[in-house]
Amino acid sequence: MIKLAPSILSADFGCLAEQLAEVEKAGAHLIHVDVMDGHFVPNITIGPVVVEGVKKHTGLPLDVHLMIDNPGQYIEAFRTAGADIITFHAEAVFDILELVNGVKALGAKVGLAISPDTSVDVIQDVLTEIDLLTIMSVHPGFGGQKFIESSIHKIETVKMLVEASSASLEIEVDGGINLENAGSVAAAGADILVAGSSVFSGNEPGLKTRKFLENLRKG
Ligand code: DX5
Ligand code: ZN
Repeated sequence: MIKLAPSILSADFGCLAEQLAEVEKAGAHLIHVDVMDGHFVPNITIGPVVVEGVKKHTGLPLDVHLMIDNPGQYIEAFRTAGADIITFHAEAVFDILELVNGVKALGAKVGLAISPDTSVDVIQDVLTEIDLLTIMSVHPGFGGQKFIESSIHKIETVKMLVEASSASLEIEVDGGINLENAGSVAAAGADILVAGSSVFSGNEPGLKTRKFLENLRKG
């Protein structure tokens, strides 16, 4: 079954605990946490201290998406803070396999993220080593952007690569997902949908989570 990972980037941080409880009760599968450093992307968001706080208020696995330079320098701090999945960007490191092994050594699941302009070729060498591949369907940095349509073809390509290999990774799609396009993203081969603004903007993240899950169940 397809999983939903609400991204707290668009949550109301003044009542984050309540918002986390709402989406968990509504059936969300993971909590997606966007970490930005002002270098790899222009925006600055969340550090380990907030991850530690989030961990105290949800029983769901924390899916920590590092949009930072030098991710290897911070993986231990995020793991200690409670990250269950640590995803770093292929564009941010020189030796992908080395950091994949570094994350695994900390006992976390490991994800690799690729930005829209990055070819799927970079995943070939680590296909069987990673737990998650995050295909960015917007340019990383901000919530609320428009889904890049060519991502559908990229998801289909990755799905074929995964099926033709012995890999057991999950395909996560991140950026611009809403109730209208969730079905076609799922049909292209996504296993996990990240949804930020379409779950948390405005009111009632629990209700929106339920709507997403209902829609996806209907196919
Ligand atoms: C963008 C982040 C996304 C973001 C998604 O750089 O990685 O996870 O929160 O937000 P929406 O769903 O609003 O595009
Ligand atoms: Zn993200």
